Amino acid sequence: MTKFTVNNQPVEYLLDPETPLLWALRDASNLTGTKYGCGTGECGACIVDIDGAAVPSCSVSIAACEGRFVTTIEGLSRDRSHPVQQAFAALNVTQCGYCIPGIVMAAAVLLKRTPAPTDADIDAAITNICRCGIYPRLREAIRRAGRVAQGETLLGAPPPGIDPAGAARAVPALTPRPG
Ligand code: FES
Ligand code: FES
Repeated sequence: MTKFTVNNQPVEYLLDPETPLLWALRDASNLTGTKYGCGTGECGACIVDIDGAAVPSCSVSIAACEGRFVTTIEGLSRDRSHPVQQAFAALNVTQCGYCIPGIVMAAAVLLKRTPAPTDADIDAAITNICRCGIYPRLREAIRRAGRVAQGETLLGAPPPGIDPAGAARAVPALTPRPG
């Protein structure tokens, strides 16, 4: 049994301790916002926050997370009010969307440490792969999110997205089976 904290909730996984965190989150916890891209720690689609570091969840076992604090895209905010989410929506950063949760998590971690990042800071921290070429808007959104976080500018939070209960209704396969 592996115990740690996910999105401020204590969890115990009855899985092989070598299970990658990504699959525990997606398959056991139904936290499907964290995406599977390469599976080799290179694309960044699966990045989560572990104790304040941006970590590719495909490349860390649940055993290595014992006693640690994991935050996924679902735990960043309940209503898309995190400054990075506000700035991404305001600047229309997203193209495919598949890579975005990992980028948002990496950006949130960066801004905790470096509230006013330079382009070099952003390029060093955001190594996520996006094949759509969003990088110029991405840099501007991260800089703006830093200003929002510091109270230097305001952005309206975008409308709340679908919550897990709503997702289960919309996607019958996600609805828990009785018994
Ligand atoms: S799926 Fe984890 S880094 Fe690509
Ligand atoms: S926005 Fe996802 S790959 Fe470019």
